[in-house]
Amino acid sequence: MALMNRETVSRFTAIKQVEATIDRILTEYPRDVTSTLSPSEVHFFGQSVDLRRLLVMKELYRLSEDVDRVYTEHNEQNRAARNDNPSSLHLEAYERSFKEINEMAGRPFGRGQVRRFLDLGFAPGGVTTWLLRSNGSALGTGISLSLEASGIQSQVDLQFLARFQQRYEDIRDIADGRATIDSGAFDLVIANAAVVLPEDNVSWNHRVHLVYAQLLVAFQNIAPGGSLTISLQTRPFDWVVDVLTTLRQSFASIIAVKPKLHAKRSVTHVVCQGYMASSDAECSYVERIRAGIGYLKQASGAVDAPLGGTANLPRISAPPNQVNLEAQVQFVAELLTPVWKRQYTAIHEHYQEVLRDTHERGPTVPASNADAVGSWRRQQTAVVQPGGSGSSNWRNRATEQHGSGQRGREHRTTGSGDRSGRSGGMTTDLSWRRGQH
Ligand SMILES: C[S@@+](CC[C@H](N)C(=O)[O-])C[C@H]1O[C@@H](n2cnc3c(N)ncnc32)[C@H](O)[C@@H]1O
Repeated sequence: MALMNRETVSRFTAIKQVEATIDRILTEYPRDVTSTLSPSEVHFFGQSVDLRRLLVMKELYRLSEDVDRVYTEHNEQNRAARNDNPSSLHLEAYERSFKEINEMAGRPFGRGQVRRFLDLGFAPGGVTTWLLRSNGSALGTGISLSLEASGIQSQVDLQFLARFQQRYEDIRDIADGRATIDSGAFDLVIANAAVVLPEDNVSWNHRVHLVYAQLLVAFQNIAPGGSLTISLQTRPFDWVVDVLTTLRQSFASIIAVKPKLHAKRSVTHVVCQGYMASSDAECSYVERIRAGIGYLKQASGAVDAPLGGTANLPRISAPPNQVNLEAQVQFVAELLTPVWKRQYTAIHEHYQEVLRDTHERGPTVPASNADAVGSWRRQQTAVVQPGGSGSSNWRNRATEQHGSGQRGREHRTTGSGDRSGRSGGMTTDLSWRRGQH
């Protein structure tokens, strides 16, 4: 690693130096980056300057002790001002975030346009609250893990409970047919379930399994013409590309948006409208997702193991011999470029603030707007400074730790992966995983 190391990063006092280093790394040492990527990402790396710049920016930010210090201080402040009810803060943040997603998608989900919705991973209930408030006669069903299983409490207001059925089930059980959703076709499905316990060192196959399970339940329960919003990683892993391709084939329109809450994280909300898969196509997708879930349940190796990793994960979008990789790369790069740019800008802005404040005024910069909302569990967990174990190598993900005080560990462990990060969640910049983005 000629330049992408802590020593180089420790010399930065202004964002201009970071920018110049990104340019140098990309010009002189691109192998330092590509050697840490999955084969699928390497393909995109060659195609997209925005992805290239983002990947290096994320890594330098991740390696910065100035940034660590800011997050650590923020963590300590959170602990000191311990909030007894963090779920309510998350509820409001998710509500605002969905309002923003709706706006970015051209406002398809308010003003009475939604009649029946299914919210996968609904608790604490921000998205549901926004939907019930904005659609006066909408009926909803929400599925989340129980409080005991997830540590996350439903906060949906009593006034809405006549129109909202809360169910505590594991979505993977529903996908396996061990539990059912009786109400049939929904005109909106939200797939926002994510593992949120920082102490869980969840393996890549379990995380991908949760995405697959949500996709399967969505296909089985969405009405013709209906919409789906799903949270996905923005790193173009082969399985992410496959899921995006499947969505493009199944909906009249698909866009990827990035609300402020998740600005620094490698996560996007994909908004799909106009469900149009024929019943034959739907059956094929469901069958292939089931095969994928079967594979994921057995997978025990590293994410890039030639036999047990994602390389052999059955594809959903098409049988293996019919996959058109070039077309997929072009479509996915177009879809994700605005999201990659937005993430770069958000990290750049925060890094600039940190460097300015650290080197001009002393470290007083808050971690981020989103981080003003505390973690459900973070306050109970010791802050761990990223150290030597913080290798960003994609190949190390399956063995790396992740947790609330560690930036950027979660997704790297998953192969749904993210090597940079501070602050995330499946999808969540809200910072029960401040460290991931
Ligand atoms: C980021 S939170 C979702 C926030 C929520 N959409 C809102 O608007 O407030 C993730 C949710 O996914 C749920 N979850 C995680 N794994 C799950 C599973 N296997 N089955 C059901 N829910 C799950 C968690 O319990 C948690 O409620």
